Amino acid sequence: MAISLNVNGTSHEVDADPATPLLYVLRDDLALNGAKYGCGLGQCGSCTVAVDGEPVLSCMTPVMLMEGREITTVEGLGTIERPGPLQQAFIEVQAAQCGYCIPGMMMSAHALLARNPAPSDREIRDALATNLCRCGTHMRILAAIRRAGELMQAAAPGDPARRAG
Ligand code: FES
Repeated sequence: MAISLNVNGTSHEVDADPATPLLYVLRDDLALNGAKYGCGLGQCGSCTVAVDGEPVLSCMTPVMLMEGREITTVEGLGTIERPGPLQQAFIEVQAAQCGYCIPGMMMSAHALLARNPAPSDREIRDALATNLCRCGTHMRILAAIRRAGELMQAAAPGDPARRAG
């Protein structure tokens, strides 16, 4: 079945079974490998992407529900040459160890910072409660998200709509 998807601002037409998890389509059809397969059961958060600005577990989301929605993956937050604020902050703070969970962490943080650019540690912990990290870089992840909020506010003071990244 032909399904139209808007991913990172680009329209795509994919031929997929409607029940296929969005994660598989992103990785296998669109070569967007940022979102990771961890548990496949909605329990680890490594597959998190943003859909209409809200974090969604793409391993549990049938692709047929995604038509007409705005999907953002970690690739949509910036490039190697021009990293977005979240990517820049995670690099600056060296928040990744193995890095497997980080794209999902960033997408949950992306949704949080879009509505609250200066979250408390409690608010960050709550927003990322479904994103698991086994390496244990949690304190650096908190620091990176706080730093990303600062970078976003510096880039576009007073304009939450332009800060998300
Ligand atoms: Fe989706 Fe673990 S792979 S929550």
